[in-house]
Amino acid sequence: MSSNNAPIRKDFPADFRWGVSTSSFQIEGAGQEDGKGESIWDRFCKQPGRIRDGSNGNVACDHYHLWPQDLDMAKGLGVNAYRFSVAWPRILPNGSLGRGAVNEAGLAFYDRLVDGMLERGLDPWCTLYHWDLPQVLQEQGGWTSRETVAAFLEYTDIVTRRLGDRVKHWITHNEPWCSCMMGYWENIHAPGGTSFADALQANHHVVLSHGQAIPVIRKNSADAKVGITLSLHPITAASDSAEDLAALKRHDGLRNRWFLDPLFGRGYPADTLELVGDAAPEIVEGDLAAIATPTDFLGVNYYFPEMVKDDQDPKTGGPMRASLVEKEGVERTGFGWEVSPQGLVDLLTRLQRDYNPPVIQLTENGSTFEDVLTPDGRVHDKERLSYLQRHLAALKQAIAAGVPVKGYFAWSLLDNFEWAEGYLRRFGIAYVDYASQRRILKDSGLWYGRFLNE
Ligand code: FCB
Repeated sequence: MSSNNAPIRKDFPADFRWGVSTSSFQIEGAGQEDGKGESIWDRFCKQPGRIRDGSNGNVACDHYHLWPQDLDMAKGLGVNAYRFSVAWPRILPNGSLGRGAVNEAGLAFYDRLVDGMLERGLDPWCTLYHWDLPQVLQEQGGWTSRETVAAFLEYTDIVTRRLGDRVKHWITHNEPWCSCMMGYWENIHAPGGTSFADALQANHHVVLSHGQAIPVIRKNSADAKVGITLSLHPITAASDSAEDLAALKRHDGLRNRWFLDPLFGRGYPADTLELVGDAAPEIVEGDLAAIATPTDFLGVNYYFPEMVKDDQDPKTGGPMRASLVEKEGVERTGFGWEVSPQGLVDLLTRLQRDYNPPVIQLTENGSTFEDVLTPDGRVHDKERLSYLQRHLAALKQAIAAGVPVKGYFAWSLLDNFEWAEGYLRRFGIAYVDYASQRRILKDSGLWYGRFLNE
């Protein structure tokens, strides 16, 4: 899309939230500072071969020290909301109160950060869990253990008691698919497991901890809006054969409905439950009711659509007997993810039709490309700029169709530690020169700033 027909801010409701999104482990650094405990990602990074460039989060963007300039940059863009996450091991280095005291220095850091946002007119949106579980809890099974649910509630109580007077938007968990499926089954993320059953049990505890945390947050943070963020994908079938259409339904069952259905009070989808067989999680009486505790919004992270075909070979088709099909001739990001603004429209309209959430917040959307810092001191990331413009145009279309989206958060403010890819993938609208820690707004960031100030 040329900038002539790019969306403009006035196309969106006046009270729309415009933000940038970040997470603790990916930007903070200060890996061993001020009493922080070890997280599963610190441990994972130490295992050879886990992170593509052999890196870790010890320094990252050094946001722990450079946060005032990062918040200044966010303010300069003109965003009115800032999404960050709290690192649990900074607050409870030993995971839970039974194992050790609260680390005051960790709480004090987030106090300063939140005050810094408020001073700059940025509304703080806090994610409680963006994957950095205290390692000590992993030693007792991590999210596969029900004890971790209790520990999460303690941690939530401590954080929301401290910040709940100023933070009014809370996201319990970021993307259970990634923390559980990629972490416990696909062996890509920390803690690095290969068991489907563990992943489903871990996910059950994650969503249970979400539901049980809601009343805790509401008690400590008057008038707060509370939600959970899911990574969701619009899915199509490779053909309209009955087999491929059935594969689409099965794949959607695990990829999307497995998360959405219980949160919206329907329990786990019966068809998917049957397919997972013995790997199904252990569910205690009352769990499903807790998971379905009403929220104020559904957080959606949208990156790419998927296409699947029928595949009855369990080695390639997996438990859902469906495998991904690489579409030919489509535009892709540096990660190989398909670029599909239409996918965002499809996903949002489907969510409204099938689940009718009161409010949707687009808590992440963004792209990675090979960025080059050119001699003029700029990063001319025209693909990311175009990605951003076209996804905002898609968002405008979805809103016009009646989907109640109330906010958009660009992933991410800064280039950062992209999990198993280390620093090889740049998602920022600001470039980070890791050697000097200098930040340079890319053309996409400069455009976002102009868009916001129009
Ligand atoms: C999402 C994660 C986020 C970031 C982006 C690229 O799955 O929530 O931390 O890694 O992908």
